[in-house]
Amino acid sequence: MSDQAIETLFEEDRRYPPPTEFTAQANAKPEIHDIPFEEFWEREGRERVTWFEPFTSLLEWELPYAKWYGGGKINVAYNCLDRHVEAGLGDRVAFYYEGEPEGERAAITYEQLLDEVVRAANGLKALGVGKGTPVGIYMGMGPGLPVAMLACARLGAPHTVVFGGFSAEALADRLNDMRCEVLLTQDESYRRGTIVPLKRNADDALASCPGVRSVVVGQRTRGDVPMTSGRDITWNDLVEGQSTDPASCPCEPMDSEDLLYLLYTSGTTAKPKGIAHTTAGYLVGVASTHHYIFDLKPGLDVYWCAADIGWVTGHSYIVYGPLCNGATSVLYEGTPDFPDKDRWWEIVERYKVTILYTAPTAIRAHMKWGPEHAAKHDLSSLRLLGTVGEPINPEAWMWYRQHIGSDRTPIVDTWWQTETGMVLITPLPGITTTKPGSATKPFPGIDAGVVDDHGNDVGPGGGGYLVLKRPWPAMTRGIFGDEARFRATYWERFPGMYFAGDGARIDEDGDFWLLGRVDDVMNVSGHRISTIEVESALVDHQSVAEAAVCGRFDALTGQAIVAYVTLKGGEEGSVERLEELRNHVAVKIGPIAKPANIVFTPELPKTRSGKIMRRLLRDVAENRPLGDTTTLADPAVVSEIADRAEAQPTEE
Ligand code: WTA
Repeated sequence: MSDQAIETLFEEDRRYPPPTEFTAQANAKPEIHDIPFEEFWEREGRERVTWFEPFTSLLEWELPYAKWYGGGKINVAYNCLDRHVEAGLGDRVAFYYEGEPEGERAAITYEQLLDEVVRAANGLKALGVGKGTPVGIYMGMGPGLPVAMLACARLGAPHTVVFGGFSAEALADRLNDMRCEVLLTQDESYRRGTIVPLKRNADDALASCPGVRSVVVGQRTRGDVPMTSGRDITWNDLVEGQSTDPASCPCEPMDSEDLLYLLYTSGTTAKPKGIAHTTAGYLVGVASTHHYIFDLKPGLDVYWCAADIGWVTGHSYIVYGPLCNGATSVLYEGTPDFPDKDRWWEIVERYKVTILYTAPTAIRAHMKWGPEHAAKHDLSSLRLLGTVGEPINPEAWMWYRQHIGSDRTPIVDTWWQTETGMVLITPLPGITTTKPGSATKPFPGIDAGVVDDHGNDVGPGGGGYLVLKRPWPAMTRGIFGDEARFRATYWERFPGMYFAGDGARIDEDGDFWLLGRVDDVMNVSGHRISTIEVESALVDHQSVAEAAVCGRFDALTGQAIVAYVTLKGGEEGSVERLEELRNHVAVKIGPIAKPANIVFTPELPKTRSGKIMRRLLRDVAENRPLGDTTTLADPAVVSEIADRAEAQPTEE
């Protein structure tokens, strides 16, 4: 029996100090860690953004609600566009847009983006949208999406972006919860060569959304979609004849704490939560983290965050942070494997991308396809790589560094959440010595810790629960319409601290290792073992591309570990391979973590943002009917796994 909240077994001793040339030019200097917390955010608040009226108080904190930059007046769209154009940077490219169908490309400058936003804002104003009008946005990954968000921000209308891969039902829930009055959508979008019927889904959703009075329909594919007269209007008709002069539609001066947007997060269970983000603290938080963590040199770097804008990563690090900082970004509509598995690398080569930010799930997909696709392209422009979304297996980190980063570029493994709004735990390139699989240190001004069941710090080496001990500017201001759930989910488990729901450990150097969601932790003979460590031991084997593990009931040990494994290059599983992998885990981390059974499968069940859904694997492992599958990206995957689990030899 162990008294640790979560045991930690995996040892990783590779170290990568920052290259000296990187350090010499880095935005973040070592002194950054010495600045007192209030001074740091005060300075960032003054320097990173432009105010209509300066703030008079830095922070008012009454748990669980923080107010940052009180007394200030500010507008997010002004910071992202107008001020750059006013400063003479109108000709700088804001987005290199690349459509999924080959050859569809556009370089959109800050001036052009501002024109589009002003026209759209004027059009929305004519539809009655103004300060405080809730607007839903359900669009594909084209330039229209940031234009829609920024037009809302200009008017002071809070938005909720619903990921274009979500169903009609998911859309309806979100529009109703926020009480949206207007929906911005488009006819259809492209995804992996097929057509996503956005407007048709929207029509299905709207049948149960009586509060939505106007629908604006962008034309992407020009497919023939039904229009409801009196309610629907095309984007072209909306902006036709509208002025592009910023003075014709001045930016609404917003209070620092006015709502900027809601973003619904489903996690893996229960009703989605409308996570609220407000104006000034959010903008300062995302701009500041983007500046230091991605080491952005505006006008020189070509930055590419390959997430979807429908997730928080896209909100904070495709739209608001980068545009506030005057970045030049890539905006890509489609999937990494269309028409071929080298599409991303072709894009990196074409635009000479210098900074690439993606998710471990994407890196593991590229690992599975093989390094030859990246090798076909010149990736020498890359100088910094980043990851977000899940713990990264050390071998995936190494693959990223070697095959994409030429064994040269620093990697920033950034930990954060929809609720945190901005990155909170991350290396700072140029300062931090990185370790494959570790998100390293809290960002300046952030106080993070790892505690046991009683809320006491566990100290170096021990595993426990990740908490945040003081507020930060971009933190959520609550779950829309559900204060009790907000308190219960994040603030009641450990009094005075924000509970993130993740397991973690801090090593002797003070570096953080994320251990996955605490709901996924397994209990084998009284040892609480995190999924990521066993998964990383499996991925460490040269034949394995991806692995997911979970616990299933076992009369003897409480739980036994079941592993689901995808082999590289399409290899099929065999009894020999199974035995080899079990032994590999025993050698890497110890016999206690040896999977009782391994199921070989070509795909793992994932959410639409790429996180592995271990809850469903537990259902399969215990022969239960599947729980809620509505957040699955591809529902067929689980039934295929269930079939395979039955067909495969177990040798217990
Ligand atoms: C996980 C995404 C380990 C974590 C920005 C968190 C990570 C959840 C990392 C939030 C990382 C995100 N290492 N785990 N670098 N980044 N996570 O709301 O479990 O989609 O709680 O926000 O993703 O996911 P969300």
